[in-house]
Amino acid sequence: MASSEITHSPTDGISRRTLVCGALLAAVTGSAINMSSAAAASIPTAKGVKKLAGGKFQVPLASNPTLKKVGTILIVGESKGVPVALVSGSGNSFKAMALICTHAGGPLELMDKQLVCGWHGSVFGLDGKVKISPAKTALPSIKVSASATSVTVG
Ligand code: FES
Repeated sequence: MASSEITHSPTDGISRRTLVCGALLAAVTGSAINMSSAAAASIPTAKGVKKLAGGKFQVPLASNPTLKKVGTILIVGESKGVPVALVSGSGNSFKAMALICTHAGGPLELMDKQLVCGWHGSVFGLDGKVKISPAKTALPSIKVSASATSVTVG
């Protein structure tokens, strides 16, 4: 059999090409491919974010009405190459955190209202706390201040 020939497994129906493509995609994106039926959802980006001095972000609430709902998570920008997320709580309260796994710096994806690391499987709640190891510490939190019209992160 030539090395470029595509073979199919009779037991699982997944071709060698599919597996190789998945492995290459994982290498490019830095995340593992989840073959289960629960697909990882990407985290939406906040609209109308203004970058302020000192690396802060100002998020207008009028442009992001989903933040009125408790448990909404939005990416507001990047700090030193790491995505920064804003999560809405109750009563106009918010939490912001750096979206980088505290185990070994893996990327996080939103799945079933949890942040999952594709490298070794750590899971964090939307409050940033570790739910499943190997990570031991919560996601780095970032200062937040809210007014009636906007949220400032940083
Ligand atoms: S880097 Fe996230 S679990 Fe290891």
